[in-house]
Amino acid sequence: MDQAGQIREKIDLVSLISEYVPLKKAGSNFKTNCPFHEESTPSFVVSPERQIWHCFGCGKGGDCFSFLMEYENMEFPEALRSLAKKVGIVINESSFQKSAYSQKEKIYKLNSLASKFYNFLLTKHSAGKKALEYLIKERGLNLNLINTYSLGFSPSDNSLSKYLISKKGYKKEDLLEAGLSFIRDGNVWDFFRGRIMFPLSDHRGNIVGFSGRGLTDHDQPKYINTKETPVYHKGSLFFGLESAKEEIKKEGAIVVEGEFDALSAFKEGIKNVVAIKGTALTENQANLLARFTKKVILCLDQDLAGFEATKRSLSPLEKNGMTINVLTLKEKDPDEQLKKDPVVFKKALKEQIGVYEFLISKIISANNIKSAEGIKNVTEDLLPYFSQIQNEIVKEHYIKKLASDLDTSYSSLQKELDKIESSRKELSATTVQSPQINKKNRREILEQYFLALIIQSGEAPKIIDSKKTFFLSYNFDNPAYGKIFKNLESYLEKKKILKPSEFANFISKELLPAFDSCYLLPIPKFEEKENLAKELKKVEDELFIFSIKNQMEKIASKIKEEKDKKQAKSLQKQFSHLVSLLPKQ
Ligand code: CTP
Ligand code: MN
Repeated sequence: MDQAGQIREKIDLVSLISEYVPLKKAGSNFKTNCPFHEESTPSFVVSPERQIWHCFGCGKGGDCFSFLMEYENMEFPEALRSLAKKVGIVINESSFQKSAYSQKEKIYKLNSLASKFYNFLLTKHSAGKKALEYLIKERGLNLNLINTYSLGFSPSDNSLSKYLISKKGYKKEDLLEAGLSFIRDGNVWDFFRGRIMFPLSDHRGNIVGFSGRGLTDHDQPKYINTKETPVYHKGSLFFGLESAKEEIKKEGAIVVEGEFDALSAFKEGIKNVVAIKGTALTENQANLLARFTKKVILCLDQDLAGFEATKRSLSPLEKNGMTINVLTLKEKDPDEQLKKDPVVFKKALKEQIGVYEFLISKIISANNIKSAEGIKNVTEDLLPYFSQIQNEIVKEHYIKKLASDLDTSYSSLQKELDKIESSRKELSATTVQSPQINKKNRREILEQYFLALIIQSGEAPKIIDSKKTFFLSYNFDNPAYGKIFKNLESYLEKKKILKPSEFANFISKELLPAFDSCYLLPIPKFEEKENLAKELKKVEDELFIFSIKNQMEKIASKIKEEKDKKQAKSLQKQFSHLVSLLPKQ
């Protein structure tokens, strides 16, 4: 057995998937809402017996490796290594030739070398002296903090590119791909020059890119970030998540704007902090955070931009069913507040309030609610946010609060809210189509169900034998199911019973998802054999009609085109014969 096989054998898929989504027992399998598409009734099934998963909604499925690749956006080697570590198997790295390393892996490795290089310059080299002084004297950091976050300094003389090419043997194309260098006038230049460097990691600790701050406020722009690369996508990560995630699981996540906000909080022992890096929280960021906690405490800059960013962050957080609180500070941002007086920050943390309460008071105080116009402004501003609240009880609570604060009625606010919700529905009906959900037609559903009944019965050979004549004349509409059936027949020529795991190895890889779906499809329990036989007969009859009608359609179109009278007559005869096979009404 190869190493992947050994790992697969040792991993318990049910507990692996349980680390990511809650699984519920359903018969001999487990079920949950699919993490790969939006749904409200669970169609994601895991089989402990066969150690496979399959989603009946989006059609995705596979084993422990494919789950990790899908969920963590990993390449196979990364998934292999990660699971190997889990079960204590040492991967024979020579089996991955260096050239076989995926592109992503290569970029992680390069970024990690770059980060060490930058960190060395900042902490141990004279080139980083000024930057180190700035960080310690002006920004209040210390060496411990600098090393915890692997901060660094980028030189202005292209020495990173030189180092990676001549000392580490990388090609300039590799550096360009990682976004560490660029070409000008035929020469290789470092992308980050003379800046304080913040490595940006994904939550697994891979360095995917960097953010570089100028040493003085004259450096423009103040911050630059790695351009889009195969592993760095703007707005899909946080600064600091890797160091904060354990604390976040316990305490919820404090979300701040900038790197220094996160660093200053960490310095004061507040470790559940991540930075979104400027703009409002994106949908990707909210989805990522929701894996670790359902509670978010927004603490963005205390200016107008920060307020707008707070409002824009609500929709992606609500979509993930998060509880959202806010902190209000006296100073401009968490960094300044923490430097000036950490006690004030900690007190604010204790006094955090629900974000909708915060919005109500903030928006009301900006308007004159003694006037009709003022009330109109308040509701126009607030209600769109209320309409996004996922929890109906929470929503009702805030409508009541607003009604009382504005001295108006609950029902008129509800009416305005209904208007917003129905116009939003119209909009989404015309613009958003739910993505890549396989819509199967009834015939395909029946074919799958028919095979599921047979495969899950424990009596596949007997059933197939008893339905020989049907299968001889039946053409599967879905070719995958047709091939599975053909394979089943030839497998059973040699074997007396159907062993699903063995059969899964017997068929070709492309057929596995279709087979898994039949193996896992939830079917009724048949205590009596008779009832199973009846159900099979019912499905068979309907499939038979589908197949006859399908043949009739084909002949009908031939008749239309047939010029030769004799031929046409014979086709007509065939048609009548098919009609006679249909059950009488
Ligand atoms: N940012 C960025 N690109 C820019 C400007 C800002 O990525 N051109 C991100 C940085 O992560 C920055 C955050 O947005 O920390 C907040 O920006 P801003 O409030 O302008 O910076 P400050 O927090 O004041 O930065 P500093 O404390 O370093 O002076
Ligand atoms: Mn700021």
